[in-house]
Amino acid sequence: RLDAVIFDLDGVLTDTAEFHERGWARLADEQGWHFDSALADELRGVSRMDSLERILAENGVTADVEQKREWADRKNRYYVDALDELSPADLLPGALELVLACKDEGLAVAIGSSSRNAPMVLDRLGITDQFAAVSDGNAVERAKPAPDLFLHAADQLGVAAERCVVVEDAASGVDAALAAGMVTVGVGPAERLGHAHHRFDTVAEIDLDRIL
Ligand code: G6P
Ligand code: MG
Repeated sequence: RLDAVIFDLDGVLTDTAEFHERGWARLADEQGWHFDSALADELRGVSRMDSLERILAENGVTADVEQKREWADRKNRYYVDALDELSPADLLPGALELVLACKDEGLAVAIGSSSRNAPMVLDRLGITDQFAAVSDGNAVERAKPAPDLFLHAADQLGVAAERCVVVEDAASGVDAALAAGMVTVGVGPAERLGHAHHRFDTVAEIDLDRIL
C-alpha cells in the first residue's frame, strides 16, 4: 500500500520551468552562448550549478569558481525577478485538486524540489500549508538524479521509500525517484518520461486511482 506522495514543484504544480528557461536564455544571450529549448528540457530538475556546468560544457567554455558563481547568481536574479509575477492563478490546472485528493485518500503529501527558491514559490502560490514536509535544494548535498532529496522527504514524513509515489516532469527527477525505490509518475512527453512507472501528458490527467 502507498502512504505518501512527493510532488516535484517546478513544471508539476506550476510552470516555473518556463521562467528557469528564460533566465538561462537571457544569461546565454548576454554571454554569446548557444542555448535552446532542447537543452532547457534536459535541465529540468537539474540544480542551478549543475545546469550552468552543462551549458558551459555544451559551449566549450571553461571558467574559475568565482566567475561561475557570478553567472549562476545572475541567472538566479532573473529568475527571482520573474517570480514577482507569480500568484495562486499560476497553479497548473488540476494541481491543487490533485494535492487535495491525495490528502482525502489519507496520503501524506510533501514537496521534493531541487530549487533553493522552492519556499518562495510555494508561498507565492499560496500552498505552503498544504504540505507536511518540504525538501528543497538546500536540504541535501547531492542533487537529482541522486535519490537523496526524495529520501529526505520520505524521512521527514516518516514513510518508507517503497510506500512513496513521486510526481515529476523531469527525466533527472524520475531517475532520482527510481534510485530511491519509489513509484514514479511522469508528467509530460514519453520521450522525456518513458522510464516512469506511470505517465500522463498533464497534471490534470493524472488518475490517482490507477496509481494507487
Ligand atoms: C528545479 C528546476 C530546475 C532548476 C532547479 C534549481 O528543479 O526544474 O530548472 O535549475 O530547480 O533551482 P534554483 O531555484 O535553486 O536555481
Ligand atoms: Mg520539475
